[in-house]
Amino acid sequence: MGSNLDRYNMAAPTVKPVIAVPFYSMYGHVATLAEEVIAGVEAAGGIAKPYFIQETLPAEVLTKMYAGTSLTPKYPLLEPQHLTEVDGFIFGIPTRYGRAPAQVSAFFDKTGGLWASQALNGKYAATFTSTAGQHGGQELTHLTTLPFFVHHGCIYVPIGYKEPYISDVIEVHGASPWGTSTVSDGDGSRVPTEGEKRVARFQGEHFTKIVAQAVRGRHLLEADAAGTSAAGTAATGTAADGTAAVQSSQTAAAQPTEAGAASSAAATGGAAVAGAARNDEPAVRAAPLETDKAATAPAAPAAPAAADAKVPATDAAPAAQSAPASAPAPAAASQEAAPSTTRATAPVPEKKKGGLFSCCSANAID
Ligand SMILES: Cc1cc2nc3c(=O)[nH]c(=O)nc-3n(C[C@H](O)[C@H](O)[C@H](O)COP(=O)(O)O)c2cc1C
Repeated sequence: MGSNLDRYNMAAPTVKPVIAVPFYSMYGHVATLAEEVIAGVEAAGGIAKPYFIQETLPAEVLTKMYAGTSLTPKYPLLEPQHLTEVDGFIFGIPTRYGRAPAQVSAFFDKTGGLWASQALNGKYAATFTSTAGQHGGQELTHLTTLPFFVHHGCIYVPIGYKEPYISDVIEVHGASPWGTSTVSDGDGSRVPTEGEKRVARFQGEHFTKIVAQAVRGRHLLEADAAGTSAAGTAATGTAADGTAAVQSSQTAAAQPTEAGAASSAAATGGAAVAGAARNDEPAVRAAPLETDKAATAPAAPAAPAAADAKVPATDAAPAAQSAPASAPAPAAASQEAAPSTTRATAPVPEKKKGGLFSCCSANAID
C-alpha cells in the first residue's frame, strides 16, 4: 500500500472534528460574531456545538445595564463536561476592563475538576472578542484569557494574518492576529461589519482545519498501531458493506452528549434553534435566568484525591478523554480541589480582625 493518504483514507476517511463555540454576549455583538464562527466551522467540515455561557449578575443590575442577549440565551448553557466532548473550543468573550467578564471567569472557575484530572489537556482552544473602543483591550482580553488554557494544557490557535482584512488600516475594525473581534462603540450602536464577519468565518474555518489535522492524524496513528482496517472500522463506523459512515471524532462521547442534551432539554424546553440541529440535540432554549448557580453549589470537601489525579496522555483517544471516567470526581469537582497536600496540614493562622483583606491571613492589611 502506498501513501499516507491511502492509509488515511482506509483508516478514517470521514471523521469530522467536533468544535464547541461557547460564548457570552450581553448586547449581541459577540453573539453575531459567534454565528459567523459557527458557519466557518461547518464550512470547513467540522461539527459545531454552540453554547451560551450563563449570566450571573442579579436581575436588578442587568436591568440597569440594559442587558439584552444574555437574558435570552439562544443555545444550551455551557457546562464543564461539554468541553470534554469536543476536540477544540473557540470561546467568544467580550471585554470587561481588558479581560474576560465575571460571567466567563465564573464558568472557568467551575472547571476545577477538569483541571485536576487534566481532562482538557491536548485539546485546541481559540478566542474571539468585542470591545466598545478601538483600543479598549481586545488583544489584552485574548492575552489575559491564555492562563486558563495553559493551566488546562490546551493548545492555543491564533489566526495570524492569513485573512488580509486583519491588516487593513483603511477603516475601523476589530480583527487581530489573536482572533476576530468587533468594535461596538460606547452605546453599542456599531454592529459587526462585513469585514469583521468575514474574519470570524475565517477563524472558524482556520481553527477547524488545524484541529482536523490532529484528529485525523490521531486516527491514522491508531490505525497504524491497531491494524488499519480494524481501527478504521472502529473510527468511522464503517458499515458491513464497507461504506464509511460520516461520524464525528467524538463518537465515543455521543452518549454523554446526548445525556447532557436530554437533561438540558428537560430543564429548559422551548423553541427550536439552529444550534439544536447542529448539536443533534433536541430543540432547546436555555432556562430563564436563575441567580448564580455556582454560588449555591454544594462546597466540595478538601480533596487529597486531586493531588493524586493522574494526567491522561495527551494523545489519548477521544473515547478516553471524554469517557465518564474523565468527569470530575466528586471530591475534585470544586475549584477548591488544589493539588497541594501541605495546605491541609499547615496550621491555620487565626484572623486578626475583619477588613478588606481579612480573608488572607493573620498578617492581613486592614
Ligand atoms: C463593566 C463593563 C466593562 C467594560 N470594559 C470595557 C473595556 O475595558 N474596554 C472596552 O473597549 N469596552 C469595554 N466594555 C464594553 C464592552 O466590551 C462591549 O459592550 C462589549 O464588547 C459588547 O459585546 P456584547 O454586545 O457581545 O455584549 C465594557 C462594558 C462593561 C459593561
